[in-house]
Amino acid sequence: MFSLALLASLLLTCHRADALNNSVQKLPRLGYNTWNAFACNINSSVVLGQAQIMKTSGLLDAGYTAVHLDDCYANLNRTDGKIVANATKFPDGMKNFTNSIKALGFETGIYSDSGWLTCGGYPGSFNNEATDVETFAEWGFEYLKYDNCYIPFDSVTRQNELGRYQRMAEAIAAYAKKTKTLPISLALCEWGWQQVQLWGKTVAQSWRVDDDIEPFWSSIASIINQASFIAPQSDFYGHNDLDMLQVGNTVNGGNLTIEEARSHFTAWALLKSPLLIGTDLKTIGKDYLNILLNKEIIAINQDPVVGASITPFRWGINPDLVSNSSHPAQYWSGQTQTGVVFMLLNTLDTPAPLSFNLTESWAIRAGRQYHVRDLWAHTDNGTAVRNLTVTVPGHGVAALLLTDAGDEPASAGLENECAVWSQCSTHNGTRLDIPA
Ligand code: GLA
Repeated sequence: MFSLALLASLLLTCHRADALNNSVQKLPRLGYNTWNAFACNINSSVVLGQAQIMKTSGLLDAGYTAVHLDDCYANLNRTDGKIVANATKFPDGMKNFTNSIKALGFETGIYSDSGWLTCGGYPGSFNNEATDVETFAEWGFEYLKYDNCYIPFDSVTRQNELGRYQRMAEAIAAYAKKTKTLPISLALCEWGWQQVQLWGKTVAQSWRVDDDIEPFWSSIASIINQASFIAPQSDFYGHNDLDMLQVGNTVNGGNLTIEEARSHFTAWALLKSPLLIGTDLKTIGKDYLNILLNKEIIAINQDPVVGASITPFRWGINPDLVSNSSHPAQYWSGQTQTGVVFMLLNTLDTPAPLSFNLTESWAIRAGRQYHVRDLWAHTDNGTAVRNLTVTVPGHGVAALLLTDAGDEPASAGLENECAVWSQCSTHNGTRLDIPA
């Protein structure tokens, strides 16, 4: 007899095998990463200090539930084949460190590399994948950012990049199976957006799509440009990773204006990128912190019903579908569990009106009107019929959530309008796009 219990257990096994081969993280990961603010100047008290501020500032409550170590936590050489945590930086050992992070209410993450060395010159995991997964798991980490520096010659790997990342994915799956624990979540750090978006999801829960981000508008605009061509690759369990958040960062003399930081945060969140803060929270200004705390924007990034990213429906200054790292696509929309979200980017240096017909977005229903919610001002801005115009500051953004408000009012005189004029016709075949 094929019992229901047996069927349920088979289904569970299948689902689990799937998860082991791929990833365990449905939604984009929210948290902190040490690299952009501290690079190699990390130690347990620096990181715990950041975690404490995450808690007291409300970031943990807002959903930033992970704290990740990046490069430079280890000794330069392995001991007995194992990666060893640097005892000066982590005097109480790595296990105690992760326990302290967890005691504050966070998940944890660590970093390694698919080559001989990490980008900072510390031991990489190539050829040591199984040993290192065991080390990371014993230390208490649940997430692994996996980089692409110092890669072995082809005569050693006989593999492409995918092959080197697969080795780690398989080591993670094997360890989880052996120990009957959840697999470590794997995040790829491989900077080639053209290729990685195609294979990243077969091994990992996220994949970087660019070189390292910097706290300058040029860097933000260029990443948005790259992402505009691959946005549909993000969905539940697999995300384009646009790199760490530079909201309020001042490294290398950089600093985004408030408007630029809002654009950056809106794009990252609505494109369903992981949101990993890369700022020194001890020095971040309140107005920048408030950007990270925008719950209406975070809610879209963490939408449990709609996993897809926003996509451009018109490029704007730049011709449609043409790459331009200074003037990326300006008009974007996408579905959310509560309505249709629009992101309007002003890539110019000065304020500009941005106008569009609602039905340029695939997600809007023709013949309907929509309530408009401003996700930065947190105000309800009346009802939109057919089109919208918003004046947006230079390098700034408008993020609007449109919710259905019923049929268009007859009083607007909009009967016999067509969202798409081509082929729109009366019942007896009179075409509106062909003059009688
Ligand atoms: C690469 C990555 C960064 C960071 C450093 C660490 O540059 O892209 O995000 O992890 O390595 O060395």
